[in-house]
Amino acid sequence: MLSSVTNSPSSLSPAFTKPLTPTSRTEEMSGREKSDKFQDLSANAVFMGDMKTANRASQLAAMRAVLDDQSRPQLRVVDVGAGDGLTAPVWAEAVRSKDAISLLAIDMNASYKTPYLTAHSGDQFNRVNIIDYHVAAYSELPPRWLAKKLGGEADIIFASHSLYAELQPMREAGALLPRPAQSSAAELKAYFAAHPMTKYLDALANGGVMVITLGATQAMGAMRRFITEVQTQNINGMGACFDPDKSPVIKEFDNMDSFIKLFSLFKARYEAAYDCELQVRSHPSATQTPIGSYRVELDAQTDIFMLRNPLGRDDDPSWQAPRLFNTFSGGWPTRQEAAALSAEDRVKVRARQQTFLNLLPLFEVEGMFCQHDETLEIRKFDKLAGNPTGSN
Ligand SMILES: C[S@@+](CC[C@H](N)C(=O)[O-])C[C@H]1O[C@@H](n2cnc3c(N)ncnc32)[C@H](O)[C@@H]1O
Repeated sequence: MLSSVTNSPSSLSPAFTKPLTPTSRTEEMSGREKSDKFQDLSANAVFMGDMKTANRASQLAAMRAVLDDQSRPQLRVVDVGAGDGLTAPVWAEAVRSKDAISLLAIDMNASYKTPYLTAHSGDQFNRVNIIDYHVAAYSELPPRWLAKKLGGEADIIFASHSLYAELQPMREAGALLPRPAQSSAAELKAYFAAHPMTKYLDALANGGVMVITLGATQAMGAMRRFITEVQTQNINGMGACFDPDKSPVIKEFDNMDSFIKLFSLFKARYEAAYDCELQVRSHPSATQTPIGSYRVELDAQTDIFMLRNPLGRDDDPSWQAPRLFNTFSGGWPTRQEAAALSAEDRVKVRARQQTFLNLLPLFEVEGMFCQHDETLEIRKFDKLAGNPTGSN
């Protein structure tokens, strides 16, 4: 027997107890649902498509000065955390104002190589030369290897949603932060050697740009933690899942806010030590994907939440809500599937569902699944060499 959560709202926020109005965008987007691509941030194809489109405008804006720089007819680009190629349209667009782009892709995940190469094939990429898809963590690559592979310093270092793993090393390196006037050469050397950003900025040409996209809100960090938990089955204690204020999931801030705080401590020291200027600008983007109508009900028999379609059949393939719920949080079984689960698995599924429902209000605004990303443009100018474009 199913009982609607609207009858027992104590553990749920009002945001997901009321049915939402249908949206007209489902049809418009169905063409993009070609494949279920999962990356580290696991999201469904529709949301991911929306997000990449929104990001792309910001990423191109962040590299605009380099794209418009006539003295660079060809570009050397490093795509850090290249993934499976969802950012390929960035290079199709960027190469329009260039003779050619040489692209060195780097990612720790070997299984993304083939989809990345496929995504970068076709006429639009005729002048985009993929030097290599190198399977490694960027931090492990010797700088000389990078310059040799690339044939010189990079005009663009592109890090789209891939610097999350650098935040903890940046925090640790920040603890070594030397006081400018009182530090020995050895201390400074150790500081720069330990700071992950040194390896990126050292690889940049004079006038080159590092483009960094990260989720901007607390919700993004929270979601990422949640997905990691779901993936590892490392569910917190039930108490933590039920109380958003106590859940460590909610307290994580691995996002652009964290990055900027940590980077700003590093920036002034890097500029002084390397006699250069780092010009930083921010380009925001927002994604709004309709969730569609849904109702959450607690199944009294299995004690698992069921997702119901208030406007039609639950197995309607065009019903959008389950795709977002399932791909972000997993664990929204049908009644039949729920009945087949062991008691232990039901407890896990229920805990997972509850945590997701606690997080959902951070993302959901008026029936839209919303995300705010920031793209940072960090342009490096060597002071001795001068500012090649005269921009400031
Ligand atoms: C969320 S995906 C983003 C993929 C792609 N840049 C995009 O925007 O669609 C993050 C990717 O970064 C990779 N990654 C994370 N840290 C990395 C590092 N330090 N070096 C190389 N790859 C890294 C992961 O393996 C993953 O494929």
